[in-house]
Amino acid sequence: MVRKVEGFADGWWADLGTGSGAIAVAVARELGADGRVFAVDVSEVAVEVARLNVQRYGVQDKVEIRHGSWFEPLEDVKGKLMGVISNPPYIPTDDLPGLQPEVGWHEPKLALDGGKDGLEHLLHLCEGLSSVLKPGGFFVFETNGNKQSEFLVDLISAKWSSSFHNVEAVLDFAEIKRFVTGYCR
Ligand SMILES: C[S@@+](CC[C@H](N)C(=O)[O-])C[C@H]1O[C@@H](n2cnc3c(N)ncnc32)[C@H](O)[C@@H]1O
Repeated sequence: MVRKVEGFADGWWADLGTGSGAIAVAVARELGADGRVFAVDVSEVAVEVARLNVQRYGVQDKVEIRHGSWFEPLEDVKGKLMGVISNPPYIPTDDLPGLQPEVGWHEPKLALDGGKDGLEHLLHLCEGLSSVLKPGGFFVFETNGNKQSEFLVDLISAKWSSSFHNVEAVLDFAEIKRFVTGYCR
């Protein structure tokens, strides 16, 4: 998609909650000469791991790693981003003990815990989106699945219809509405 839409490959992108940096690296490899990714995470460990992966894949010239919470480290690029991508913590706190062992035992709580209904971080991201994206900009958020995605599509379409269009839930390979995407007016 980064290569297919005009202007995307040379735009500036943010990967919010970059973790290992996998998304930032993948986007960086699609970018043109002027493209750039800001990879943000509040965890110092994640930032260090992302830094290693960015070096391993040789995309240091395209990825700038920033330590901090969500939009806070992006003050200087407000209104200039072509895309925002985030796979934030979205599991409801009460569901954490029931997660599959490969997730619950190995992932830090900081990477999973989305608060009471799982939406705490996703709502914060929705609130801040319009201040960082430029007109024509794109966003994609991963969610816990159907209910969260449907809720967010309805919320964004109702509350921020003047800022966003073509907001929709997108299926994953298991036919679950896993992602919410949209464009900035
Ligand atoms: C589900 S993991 C996603 C990691 C990676 N992007 C991926 O898709 O594999 C969520 C990430 O969000 C980060 N995170 C949690 N709270 C954050 C905050 N307030 N600001 C920025 N990142 C945060 C966690 O440290 C973790 O790396």
